[in-house]
Amino acid sequence: MQIYLDYSATTPPRPEVKEKLQSVLTQHWGNPSSLHTWGNNAATVVETARIQVASLINAIDPESIIFTSGGTEANNLAIMGVARKYKTPQHIIISSIEHSSISEPARLLEEWGWEVTQLKVNRTGRINPIDLKNAIQPNTVLVSIIYGQSEVGTLQPIEELSHIARSRGILFHVDAVQVAGRLLINIEQLNVDLLSLSSHKLYGVQGAGALYVREGVELVPLLGGGGQENHLRSGTQAVSTIAAFGVAAELAATELETETPRLISLRDRLFDLLADCPYLIPTGDRLYRLPHHVSFIVVAPESEQITGKTMVRQLNLAGIGISSGSACHSGKLNPSPILLAMGYNSKESLGGIRLTLGRETTIEDIDWTAMVLKQILDRLIPPLAVIR
Ligand SMILES: Cc1ncc(COP(=O)(O)O)c(C=O)c1O
Repeated sequence: MQIYLDYSATTPPRPEVKEKLQSVLTQHWGNPSSLHTWGNNAATVVETARIQVASLINAIDPESIIFTSGGTEANNLAIMGVARKYKTPQHIIISSIEHSSISEPARLLEEWGWEVTQLKVNRTGRINPIDLKNAIQPNTVLVSIIYGQSEVGTLQPIEELSHIARSRGILFHVDAVQVAGRLLINIEQLNVDLLSLSSHKLYGVQGAGALYVREGVELVPLLGGGGQENHLRSGTQAVSTIAAFGVAAELAATELETETPRLISLRDRLFDLLADCPYLIPTGDRLYRLPHHVSFIVVAPESEQITGKTMVRQLNLAGIGISSGSACHSGKLNPSPILLAMGYNSKESLGGIRLTLGRETTIEDIDWTAMVLKQILDRLIPPLAVIR
């Protein structure tokens, strides 16, 4: 039995997406900037996808969608695109639990003399909006906050946070990579200036993403070249992967009403089945949470260390694909910076695991996974160990 529970890492391209890829690669492979029929056909494919992606976030103007190579590029374009407008270093605000495609550009800005405030989060990974109010300075030019945290599943009060920033004339960017296609996004209600999306997180294919740019928001492009994508992202568009993104976005929007509650019920079932397991502590917020996201830290007695990575390996041997938050650098396992920021100690922060569900996850998968997970822990942790 093979069970994939790592849909936050990537999702399998859906059949309609594969069909679209095939048809575009066969029939509409032209360069969208060319003026002949081949070019026009490819341009029509890209513009159709732009409308589909805009609809996913309920954006009225398709021109507000700038196609990129993925979520990482969209995030970099947001941060650096704003920063590069300024001749002298200013101040930006991010959270302490951002994806590295935000925290790394922010770190680079710091090296260039910018001030970066990282808002603290509580034990469940939530930001207190008052902290944002207090962090704002006269030279704050951008606030960037992750909507749904990929490692611990916590959702942020984006509307409230964006209101605080925008009412003071400060640009607000949201990384919605994990949320899009899983929860309804209404760009006007969310009231943000910039929003990042990634195709392969919603059953498209890897290599396409988008940055929503509100009309009137000025950015300096990262790449110099032919001026495609409204002069914000030079380079010939990846027509087939963009078309696949469009189809995936349209279908995700159509299925949201049924798929989101289904995921929530599977997610809650998995949490419930594992609630009596003494070796697992749930992480993240249980109420404000991504619909498909289950996460824990593994706790073992003082003498033991069971890392998230160990659990990934063990579950993989049992045919179940999950992920852990800690990453290896130069052969050494490092605690998850996200769990550290949430107040867990170094040992605990090595023990994070994440199980993320998707379209193909069934109730049987959930029940089986819970049983296997418990069995693995019972085997790894000595039975007489007193924990907590
Ligand atoms: C919250 C978040 N932002 C950004 C990214 C980067 O997206 P991409 O893989 O499309 O570059 C990811 C990927 O895991 C993510 O989870």
